[in-house]
Amino acid sequence: MPVKVDPTSTHARVTPSHALLASDTAASLSSCCDGSLLSALELTVESVSEILALATLLEQENPLKRAERLAKRRIALLFYESSTRTRTSFELAAKGLGADTTLVSSLSSSIEKGETLKDTGLTLRALGAEAIILRHPNSGAPWLLERETGLPVLNAGDGMHEHPSQALLDLRTILAHLRPGTEKVTAKTLAGVTICIVGDILHSRVARSNMLLLPKLGARVVLCGPKELLPEVAAQAGPGIEIERDFTKAIGQSQVVMMLRIQAERLAGLQLDLEEYKASYQLTEERLAAHTPEALVMHPGPIIRGLELTGEVADGPKSLILEQVHHGVAIRMALVLRALTQPTQKGVGA
Ligand code: CP
Repeated sequence: MPVKVDPTSTHARVTPSHALLASDTAASLSSCCDGSLLSALELTVESVSEILALATLLEQENPLKRAERLAKRRIALLFYESSTRTRTSFELAAKGLGADTTLVSSLSSSIEKGETLKDTGLTLRALGAEAIILRHPNSGAPWLLERETGLPVLNAGDGMHEHPSQALLDLRTILAHLRPGTEKVTAKTLAGVTICIVGDILHSRVARSNMLLLPKLGARVVLCGPKELLPEVAAQAGPGIEIERDFTKAIGQSQVVMMLRIQAERLAGLQLDLEEYKASYQLTEERLAAHTPEALVMHPGPIIRGLELTGEVADGPKSLILEQVHHGVAIRMALVLRALTQPTQKGVGA
């Protein structure tokens, strides 16, 4: 079923609560500010090329010159869920461009007293924020915030829905290894590349954004996991997506193996036998060596060593986990700069 933001709500609310299938929502959930990034559905190959080129330009720029680009502009980070990588890299990205940042988290703000997302957003706007980076447990929250504030919003993860900046940094990591030097991407840039995403697909906004982005560049995406964490309907999320439940067959045909954490905080009563899960789906050195010795290993983090992958694999020579984190700063600098230099409203919002 598609994701729908409740238009009458002043709280972030989306029905139904999970959103593996939403290929028909691009129009209904399109952003109202050009500088926003709410969903990977919005990304064209042209816009991806622009973001990748801008990321490289900013990364290579003299830091003093770079810090003049958004000097004294104000950006708010609004985080209703915990985060290490996304929050820190967005903050470093904004600061690297010279912007002033402020962090509002649900545990140390008036959100605790019951203030709504709308009122918090309007408050941040009144304080001079020109863009908001939002992480929220409810799918669709970034659309509501953008609509109510009229500000560009960067989706830093909304519930089980999307995490588009993660998909872009994952793409930059993949290109660096499989297509080095490529910034101008096309619909064929990743032709012939199979990327296997393994584990808790159902609850993963990272999986969803990657499933929507990577096939646009010609990649084949193979999803792998047990039925409880990977419903059959996931293959219909978009073109270029297949399901292979046998782990060794899935990794055996892949140049990239992207492992996912089991999101215990979203299981909502679902009982999983973790020993059975590890026996079937854990990425070990033995499995890598036997079935796909050349594959690149990715994981958006946080990793749970000894569950979805072993510590040896996480620390091993094929692991790109920390490289992914590194690419996050350049990609997020590009997104933050784009947010503040293309803030044209499309007639919606405040
Ligand atoms: N990959 C990711 O979103 O990590 P954090 O939750 O630490 O931001």
